[in-house]
Amino acid sequence: MTELAATTKVEECLLSAPSENPSARVSEYAEGSLLSMEQLSVADVAGILANTSHLERMTAAERARVLAGRTIALLFYESSTRTRTSFELAAKSLGATTTLVSDKSSSIEKGESLKDTGLTLRALGAEAIILRHPASGAPSLLARATGLPVLNAGDGMHQHPSQALLDLRTILLRLGKDASTVHAKTLDGVTVSIVGDILHSRVARSDAMLLPRLGARVLLCGPVELLPEDALGLGAGIEGSGSLEIERDFDRALRQSDVVMMLRIQKERLAGFDLDLGEFVARYQLSMERLAACAPKAVVMHPGPIIRGLEIAGEVADGQQSAIEEQVAQGLVVRRALLVRALGVTV
Ligand code: NCD
Repeated sequence: MTELAATTKVEECLLSAPSENPSARVSEYAEGSLLSMEQLSVADVAGILANTSHLERMTAAERARVLAGRTIALLFYESSTRTRTSFELAAKSLGATTTLVSDKSSSIEKGESLKDTGLTLRALGAEAIILRHPASGAPSLLARATGLPVLNAGDGMHQHPSQALLDLRTILLRLGKDASTVHAKTLDGVTVSIVGDILHSRVARSDAMLLPRLGARVLLCGPVELLPEDALGLGAGIEGSGSLEIERDFDRALRQSDVVMMLRIQKERLAGFDLDLGEFVARYQLSMERLAACAPKAVVMHPGPIIRGLEIAGEVADGQQSAIEEQVAQGLVVRRALLVRALGVTV
């Protein structure tokens, strides 16, 4: 583990350096890489959505020809159900061959570095790598080391761009909007609350970088331990980044929300933290009573995994307003478009 640990430390240092122009940075990586939400312009997002719809309209047989003969590796250093399975099924539905390497059953356990693991996958014919890693910045490191397109499937507390895109498509569909394109005003008049453990959430970071650029008003809601004031800086400096606010009172946030996105408390990243769960539940759990009283029409979302009875009541997750399963299904279709983009295939 020492070499890996050293690698990730180096990357953390790189990340904490003052950031330069993101587009300049991205050009160092193979085209088709998706490392962070900030690298995508609104036009890029519109293109991904258009391809998602196009691929969805194809027959299964047509789709299976799109990436036939291509090889995609999934490299997972953290557990995952939805993201891993949907990337894998998306690749297979396009006819690609996939291979899964996880830190639990590979030479990573013997101490092989991220770079060497990536080079090994490349030598075996991988043409793109989907990476989930506990260290922020690991996907950039891998993209630089291998020269391959890398899709960030979640890196530490940093980014989860494919999740933001599937969240966007779910929102567009649930609000009855055209899901095959977006522009800077598509979500004008729409208020989205993101609630709970924002501090540790790469999903919140990616969503907060995307939705305001499409016109949405985003309210961040949670206790100060899980939502520091500097969260307002998310998205700062990105062209067209719009309105981001903090509203600590959940009921007040809910009353204004068209969409409410609940987040799991990331216990695995809470080291040294002392959170009063009873108080959290009282103030921030999305219960049926709260939802009925404050937002009887809002779309309820959650990236999963949900912890029933903690941030969300089971009956809300299973209820009419919940789009949680739809988000999972959108993960499959949106990730197809990301794989096609990664491999530079025109559809
Ligand atoms: C999230 C993740 O791993 O970042 N889940 C996901 O990918 N759908 C959120 C979480 O772990 O709570």
